[in-house]
Amino acid sequence: MGIQRIESVIYSVDDLDACVRFFTDLGLAPVGKDDERAVFETLIGQTLHLRTGGATEGLPASVEASNNTIREVVWGAGAEEELAGFVAALGADREVTRDAEGVWHTVDETGFGVGLTVAGPAANEPATPREQNVTGQVRRWNQALSSVGAVRPLRMCHVALNIPKAGREEAVAFYVDRLGFIPTDIVKPMGVFMRVPGDADQHNFLLCHRPDKASVNHVSFEVPGFDDVIEGGNHMIEQGWQEARRLGRHTVGSNVFRFVHSPSGGRVELAADMDRVDDTYGPNVHETAPPHHIWTLRTSRDA
Ligand SMILES: [Fe+2]
Repeated sequence: MGIQRIESVIYSVDDLDACVRFFTDLGLAPVGKDDERAVFETLIGQTLHLRTGGATEGLPASVEASNNTIREVVWGAGAEEELAGFVAALGADREVTRDAEGVWHTVDETGFGVGLTVAGPAANEPATPREQNVTGQVRRWNQALSSVGAVRPLRMCHVALNIPKAGREEAVAFYVDRLGFIPTDIVKPMGVFMRVPGDADQHNFLLCHRPDKASVNHVSFEVPGFDDVIEGGNHMIEQGWQEARRLGRHTVGSNVFRFVHSPSGGRVELAADMDRVDDTYGPNVHETAPPHHIWTLRTSRDA
């Protein structure tokens, strides 16, 4: 079984109210809030935590100068019986502690917090992307389209962290050797894309060593389709948030993307239609970095 999915992402933030507004606008469901913390849920029950002030005590130290950053990513294992093995591997050379809820905590080679628990139940209801019509394959009869409405992310599908170039092999080996992450695309000048055994996404995790300092890069939220990426991004812009990258489709992973700067640090990505892979895929080793995207939106107004 192994690691199945991202279970939780924990940010520390300076402006809790702004971050609550941001993730509410992004379409996550709020499940709790007080003066120093807020918790949101994706549709499959993963949790995103925002903490400030005293609520950050006990978290691993921030890896960057800013307080607005990811302090821990909690991964969900397939079964309780697996945890002991993972905890033993994690604890070979560092402290691993267990909290009152039974979640194990340690830090990776860079200093990012790593949590480990049992994965929550899989989603009950499948996503229902819009049917598409093309001559020869008509899927949608007598049904006009309208706005997708309020976009609700299905799940956090991947996390990307920036790590220093020095020690990058050890940083990747920590996840591969101790937690069973599977490298899918190794881009030597840029970073290593990995997935967890329980998830077929081309990547669930990226350690990006382009920058020479550690920081949060982005958290990606899967939405059902192309319309949701566009409308979800439009909604964020209408709410006053800043787009970080023009609409496009990635080369590695093939997903359609929009990026928005997050007040919690780094960016968030709305993603759809990522490649799904199995154990026969990769790892693909790239001596030079493939293009970042297959396409991005162009307009004659750019000139
Ligand atoms: Fe991404």
